[in-house]
Amino acid sequence: MSTDALVLDDVTLTYGSATAVFGLSLTVGAGEAVGILGRNGAGKTTTLRGILGSGVRRKGSIRYFGEEIGGMRADQVARKGIGWVPDDRRIYTTLTVRENLLLASRERSGPAKEAVDEAVAAVPLVEKLLPRKGVQLSGGEQQAVAIARAVVGRPKVLLLDEPAEGLAPIIVESLQQSVIELSRSGMTILIAEQNLNFVLGATQRVCVLDSGREVLTCSSEEFGNSPELQNQHLAISLENHGKRR
Ligand SMILES: Nc1ncnc2c1ncn2[C@@H]1O[C@H](COP(=O)(O)OP(=O)(O)O)[C@@H](O)[C@H]1O
Ligand SMILES: [Mg+2]
Repeated sequence: MSTDALVLDDVTLTYGSATAVFGLSLTVGAGEAVGILGRNGAGKTTTLRGILGSGVRRKGSIRYFGEEIGGMRADQVARKGIGWVPDDRRIYTTLTVRENLLLASRERSGPAKEAVDEAVAAVPLVEKLLPRKGVQLSGGEQQAVAIARAVVGRPKVLLLDEPAEGLAPIIVESLQQSVIELSRSGMTILIAEQNLNFVLGATQRVCVLDSGREVLTCSSEEFGNSPELQNQHLAISLENHGKRR
């Protein structure tokens, strides 16, 4: 069995006739946390969709612990152990947070209560939210629940899509801490994010996309220490900060 959690080899991703990601090669080691950076429309979400096999046509090879998953459906990929926190969070608004987590726990074996306890331990923000209905949650609370729900599935690999987007700094910090703890516990993590601080604090490596192409892969430390690299690759997205979408 390969020790790499994910190996993308020359992956091209298309929507109809439009190519969104061109020949991307990226390796994520088991237990590693990697950030995908890039401006709006760079192809971050598409890359995660490509790994999941959801909503985008794939070419090239995607291996998960050595097994080719590039041809698998999203439900098969999920059952293999790849969890996903989508950018739109998708909490069931008419259900309570506890019910949302219990629903997710049906996909795994063992007592449901244990699943909820595990999720709360991983994302402490969720504890006081358990009795609340999804509709009563703020954006940050929804994000916390979305991460907790993914943890319930006990993924080996967790894909997070812009977890910090639009959230207050104090929530961002708490969610970042949760991601760091999950990473320390051995979970492999891939984060698509425009919030540079979130990524630099939670990952060991970054991959920068620009217009669907990989333009740089380096250690998070190197990227964090280099205003030149940041300016070169993210300047426009920083200028646009606060008026995205
Ligand atoms: N469902 C879709 N159908 C067609 N084009 C899409 C779709 N989703 C995204 N795109 C296009 O793919 C490119 C990459 O988008 P995306 O992966 O969402 O970027 P990011 O997440 O980095 O902001 C953009 O040009 C976007 O317009
Ligand atoms: Mg996106």
